[in-house]
Amino acid sequence: MLNLKFLGTGSALPEKVLSNRDLERMVETSDDWITTRTGIKERRIARDDVSTSDLAAAALTEACANAGVEPGDLDGIILGTSTTDTLFPSTACWVQQRLGIKGMFAFDVSAGCSGFLYALEIASALMAGGRGRRFGVIGAEVMSKVVNWRDRGTCVLFGDGAGAAVIGPGSGDSGILASSWGADGSLAPCLYQPAGGTQRPATLETVQENLHTVHMQGRHVFRHAVEAMASAALTAMDRARLTADDVDVLIPHQANIRIMEATRQRTGVPAERMFSVVDRYGNMSAATIPIAIHEAKQAGLLKDGSILLTTAFGTGFTWAAHAIRW
Ligand SMILES: CC(C)(COP(=O)(O)OP(=O)(O)OC[C@H]1O[C@@H](n2cnc3c(N)ncnc32)[C@H](O)[C@@H]1OP(=O)(O)O)[C@@H](O)C(=O)NCCC(=O)NCCS
Repeated sequence: MLNLKFLGTGSALPEKVLSNRDLERMVETSDDWITTRTGIKERRIARDDVSTSDLAAAALTEACANAGVEPGDLDGIILGTSTTDTLFPSTACWVQQRLGIKGMFAFDVSAGCSGFLYALEIASALMAGGRGRRFGVIGAEVMSKVVNWRDRGTCVLFGDGAGAAVIGPGSGDSGILASSWGADGSLAPCLYQPAGGTQRPATLETVQENLHTVHMQGRHVFRHAVEAMASAALTAMDRARLTADDVDVLIPHQANIRIMEATRQRTGVPAERMFSVVDRYGNMSAATIPIAIHEAKQAGLLKDGSILLTTAFGTGFTWAAHAIRW
């Protein structure tokens, strides 16, 4: 087991709330359809002048304050996102610029909704290897700027936000008990943003054809998401020698309540132990898990010794799970 602790957590959410009723006025949909299919009631939308690094910097600032650590004293910043500020440099470097800090390494992890858990896995491996003591791990997205607001099949699903954690040396027996991660690039075209990279650089046509937005085969994604999240979670539980009864809090990636519930059932964790924020924030991709962890902590659900099981799935496809003793 790697002995580490979540020294502090934080989140940042835009003020603007977009409800299902608001969406009814934008595309042909209904509150009932969205609620039944996804469990989402509302989501947050960033202002035009707010980018992913703004939310990430705010979340990291709060996490550092709660950890009693100055952002400038971190040994590194790892940020999971699919909605980067710019194609280069990394959003993590823009976070440094926003916070006026420098020196420590900073980079992004591109693993879609699994981004925070990928970042956590890397940070914990660096810690285990003695490459630093305190890392800022962030999941941040402004999905609203890559969503096609005329496509009812996708625009109702996503929201904006950022969550962060400062991890460092633990005292006692807190730490990551076990993890599991993987990817299957053969399924890349099932969920992606087709244009803007080197495959299809931005042109007038790519903009006119809406190729800079989320393209998704919803049903396909649904099936793979449940299988991958459940399988990763069960592997982490098995490696940590945990049973479903041992798990105090289950935080699956908050894509939609049906995926979360199907995943939970396969893990056997009792329903009342699953923590959800999906009704209020929608799918914020890499940001959902750190925000849910932060809110579960604030709600008093994560106490010293609590067992947290978290599992994610995202574009790539990627997946990851962690069994953590808080
Ligand atoms: C997107 C999702 C909610 C759609 O639910 P679904 O039951 O699979 O629905 P379908 O896409 O098959 O569409 C069923 C019907 O609803 C319609 N529909 C799609 N979006 C709609 C909306 N927002 N409002 C009303 N109707 C809608 C479709 O046009 C289709 O109509 P048709 O039967 O007349 O053709 C579901 O596939 C899903 O959750 N997928 C995973 C998405 C996800 O979480 N992605 C991120 C993973 S990290």
